[in-house]
Amino acid sequence: MQAHEIETFDIARPPAAFRDDPFPYYAALLAHAPVLRQPDGSVLLSRHADLDRIYRDVVRFSSDKREVFAPKFGRASPLYEHHTTSLVFNDPPLHTRVRKIMTSALTPRAISRMEPGLNAAVDALLDQMAGKDEVDLIADYAAAIPVEIIGNLLDVPHEERGPLRDWSLAILGALEPDLDRGGLDRGNRAVAEFIIYLEDLVARRRAVPGDPDTDVLTRLIQGTDGRESLSERELLHNCIFILNAGHETTSNLIGNTLALLHDHMDARRELLKEPDLISRAIEESLRFLSPNQFGNRATIEPVEIGGVCIDAGTNLHLCIGAANRDSTVFDAPDQFDIRRHPNRHLAFAGGPHVCVGLTLARLEGRIAIRRFLDRHPDYQLVGHRQSGGRIRFRGYSALPAQL
Ligand code: HEM
Repeated sequence: MQAHEIETFDIARPPAAFRDDPFPYYAALLAHAPVLRQPDGSVLLSRHADLDRIYRDVVRFSSDKREVFAPKFGRASPLYEHHTTSLVFNDPPLHTRVRKIMTSALTPRAISRMEPGLNAAVDALLDQMAGKDEVDLIADYAAAIPVEIIGNLLDVPHEERGPLRDWSLAILGALEPDLDRGGLDRGNRAVAEFIIYLEDLVARRRAVPGDPDTDVLTRLIQGTDGRESLSERELLHNCIFILNAGHETTSNLIGNTLALLHDHMDARRELLKEPDLISRAIEESLRFLSPNQFGNRATIEPVEIGGVCIDAGTNLHLCIGAANRDSTVFDAPDQFDIRRHPNRHLAFAGGPHVCVGLTLARLEGRIAIRRFLDRHPDYQLVGHRQSGGRIRFRGYSALPAQL
């Protein structure tokens, strides 16, 4: 792609081909326009070094999205209230308060205690798929695992988990840069329904608290020192956020890795021969097809990036998908190499907002892929694989396969 073609690239109105295959566009951005001014005044950034620095610098770059979300969602909308109250789109003090509670419940010890349940959940799904002529690796496997794990994390009763995935898809879908009216309505409806459900769940948990060491909902209700430290709204919206954050992202990690190990038979053979390569394979999948392709920050003061002067209050689109293919950091970045080491990808972002669930997500990815390959080393994708159709989140909505 030539320089003049990429210089008019607009993330709010991307070319049709971008959705299916953004990587040639990322390569052109990195080569010709790593700091690209957008028609709405925002700036699109793609270099690894720029993103890495911005994620760590909370003095000059803010996560507060009120100014961006007000025109997008409308200040009185459920989506606006939700996204501007969740920790990910806040700076201190709210971010610090919520994050402290979440990390105190997601300790390595708490996560290792989840491992037997995770193994059992994965095996149950593998049993259900056994003997079927054709399966959908997303609906039957990749999407079902995080629902189970995140549901357990907040101890949502099994029979109540049905709507969680659709709510999550609708609420996170509203973050797409090219949101349409239908997406906006679905997102608002999902927040409203989710809140009604959680008000009831929280009331039940207050009446009968769980173990705060393992039940994140009880921990969020009680705070870190047994005193409630979140308001009711903060509590409900951050429950929604944690339920959503661990859903689509992790199911995309599992689905993307299964697709990659179909398309790269050499990598699958290596992994079958050397199962200990699984951790590196998961890291490479996170880099190569990052479930989150974009993040955002706003400038707090005027800054200069790559020779471009950017005013205070400017919205920055941080292209994680491009940064993870930056050849100044990764040798042969377009090659899927399950031995790659070190692998300094930014799939979980970095700095004070680095993903709270990264240890859990990695564990889910390793267990899901290892146990799947143990049972089905010769699986083949068949028919039409359906892309999730998103820009911000990268994954498949259907992966038909024969085992
Ligand atoms: C492969 C799976 C996952 C990916 C790729 C991923 C990616 C990310 C990224 C890029 C961020 C930073 C957003 C930003 O500041 O701009 C983030 C934040 C977050 N993630 Fe994840 N995530 C994954 C799984 C999970 C899971 C399983 C959980 C929950 C158990 C989780 C909980 C969170 C939370 C609570 C935050 C907000 C942290 C903060 O703002 O301080 N994530 N994640």
